[in-house]
Amino acid sequence: MDVRATLKEGMNRLREGRVPSHTLAAELLLMHVLGCERAWLYSRHEEVLDPGKVEHYLHLVVRRIAGVPTQYLTGRQEFWGLEFEVTPDVLIPRPETEHVIEVALARLGQGQDSSWTGAGMTEDRAEGSRTGTRAALDAAMYGAGLRIADVGTGSGCLAVALAHELPEAVVVATDISSAALAVARRNAVRNGVAQRIQFVQCNLLGALESGRLPPLSKGRSELPPSTNVGARHAVPFRPPAMLPRFHVIVSNPPYVGRSEAGLLPREVREHEPAQALFAGEQGCEIYALLIGQADKLLGSGGTLVLEIGYNALDRVRPLFDSYAWTNVGVTNDLAGIPRVIAAEKL
Ligand SMILES: C[S@@+](CC[C@H](N)C(=O)[O-])C[C@H]1O[C@@H](n2cnc3c(N)ncnc32)[C@H](O)[C@@H]1O
Repeated sequence: MDVRATLKEGMNRLREGRVPSHTLAAELLLMHVLGCERAWLYSRHEEVLDPGKVEHYLHLVVRRIAGVPTQYLTGRQEFWGLEFEVTPDVLIPRPETEHVIEVALARLGQGQDSSWTGAGMTEDRAEGSRTGTRAALDAAMYGAGLRIADVGTGSGCLAVALAHELPEAVVVATDISSAALAVARRNAVRNGVAQRIQFVQCNLLGALESGRLPPLSKGRSELPPSTNVGARHAVPFRPPAMLPRFHVIVSNPPYVGRSEAGLLPREVREHEPAQALFAGEQGCEIYALLIGQADKLLGSGGTLVLEIGYNALDRVRPLFDSYAWTNVGVTNDLAGIPRVIAAEKL
């Protein structure tokens, strides 16, 4: 079979299997099997393919029809313009999670949160940018770069994208799953930021809260990549005065309630890691814990940026109604759904 006939066969089978975006899926799977770009597929469509490659391709088509996400079959997903390895151990990074990066950068005065300017803005922009200036000033005063934490890093998409955007930043990325941390670490290496990210296996920010905190100084030599994962107990406690707090904490935590499991698309429910999806019965339970920890670990003027579920704003927004927080802002995603909530630590 040549390239054109193989691709057509894949498209037909995927369409008949009612796979959404079947043309794209057919192309991505064939590009993966042949190790080529899309342009090659269409410029070399008469090239006859090795029968083993055709068989491999059609096998992947069958698995896709059975519900396995394309990204788990190709092992790849783009996020924030960077390429990430994905395996069934990690959530596939979603485009709407890029709003977390936009908001974090906007609050640091380093970027523009595009959705603040549209109808989606639900709280005041001026307060948000003042926060950004303050956090950036604090960072300059520390003179050692920004300190960022990413909680529930999964593939590492938020940690890696922020480290990539902010070359002076050091990042601590936590996850409860050691398998996810292994993928995240490979993604940090792949994108050239492994020297500035520390991967820690723990419950939310628990390992940091307890004082068994790995060093956060920017000294790159202090962050040997090979000792990062599981380094919970590797470094002795340092007195708080020596331990600068974070400027920014970001997280896209699990936020689907067990009671909502039936509402998830089958391929998400059956193929993405349950640990990455579900948080308690209602889905909001993790936010209260995380906000409490962030209160202790953010410096004054620091920012917490959280992704929230489509129906979670009414339950998460009140968690910031305390003396500890100010400048709460909400950013909608492109579908107009409140997707990111951010707040400044007083
Ligand atoms: C929704 S996924 C987000 C992954 C990635 N940050 C992203 O945006 O694609 C949530 C991640 O949190 C991790 N996780 C779940 N419960 C956790 C906990 N209690 N402490 C730390 N990480 C947790 C999961 O293993 C998963 O990798």
